[in-house]
Amino acid sequence: MKELDINELERRFQEKIDKDIKIEPNDWMPDNYRQTLIRQISQHAHSEIVGMLPEGNWITRAPNLRRKAVLLAKVQDEAGHGLYLYSATETLGADREDTIDDLHSGKAKYSSIFNYPTLSWADMGAIGWLVDGAAIMNQVPLCRCSYGPYARAMVRVCKEESFHQRQGYEIMTTLANGTPEQKAMAQDALNRFWWPALMMFGPSDKDSKHTAQSMAWKIKRQTNDELRQQMVDITVPQAELIGLTVPDPDLKWNEERGHYDFGEINWDEFWNVVKGNGPCNKERVEARRKAKENGAWVREAANAYAAKQKMKKAS
Ligand code: 3HC
Repeated sequence: MKELDINELERRFQEKIDKDIKIEPNDWMPDNYRQTLIRQISQHAHSEIVGMLPEGNWITRAPNLRRKAVLLAKVQDEAGHGLYLYSATETLGADREDTIDDLHSGKAKYSSIFNYPTLSWADMGAIGWLVDGAAIMNQVPLCRCSYGPYARAMVRVCKEESFHQRQGYEIMTTLANGTPEQKAMAQDALNRFWWPALMMFGPSDKDSKHTAQSMAWKIKRQTNDELRQQMVDITVPQAELIGLTVPDPDLKWNEERGHYDFGEINWDEFWNVVKGNGPCNKERVEARRKAKENGAWVREAANAYAAKQKMKKAS
């Protein structure tokens, strides 16, 4: 077959994108498209795995067996999401070990939200409600991402995220309807997690270096600010329904826009946390490094057993 020149390859690639034909692992794709996906999907996977730590902190301190079982199931789901997404990066040629080393060396990012401490049981409610709520907002459009394996992984992930968000909102509802101390605990958690949850959507569109290209390649189907606005519009009435107050004095329904107007995000705080200077960044990455070290014997044993089985088969 005549070697197609690069321009023709790129034209055919973009034509598939424009026609919403999924790009699959064995299809030709521009290297930048591949690298953008490896960057985003690997950081998404890191976020899932690091995201287990703040909640794992409360499994042994859940107020009853039901809450413990639900939180345990949620944290296990996040591990599965991470493994799913690491596998998706491997379909693009990324090496799993290198990807994980990038997290441990501090080279790779993960979602800023997981660098905040979890100080009370109510934080488990705020994380489920706000963090998983924001994750759903961001992940539903990714179910229509142009790269097949990522889009399909998101369909499965989103189903589980909905359970995560509901269990979090139920915790907040229970506390908000409880004693004055419980309601105060829920309000305190909302105060601490509201703005970091809005930061999850990334910098504003005007400051986002990847959004324009990611939209052209239909990796992103909506921009950071569009998704952030949806999050505010959906979540504010949920807070009001349970008698909690969103910590934003500038929050106001704008009838003309059909959206809430809300205050300015503290972008210095955002970039500070993204750059590794958040409250828990060092602790989170150290915990992941330790987990890899502590798990080395399991990997060695599994590899030794697999090698022995292979030799047995070959003899
Ligand atoms: N935390 C850390 N880094 C962030 C960030 C955040 N909240 N938002 C943006 N950044 C980084 C980007 O990674 C990029 O840096 P890089 O070039 O070194 O990768 C830089 O800031 C510029 O941001 P852009 O908006 O231009 O970058 P993107 O186009 O990649 O958009 C994103 C950022 C919206 C997070 C996008 O990457 C995305 O949609 N990722 C997939 C979803 C995801 O990762 N969600 C994280 C939460 S997962 C989760 O919550 C699990 C749930 O089960 C609890």
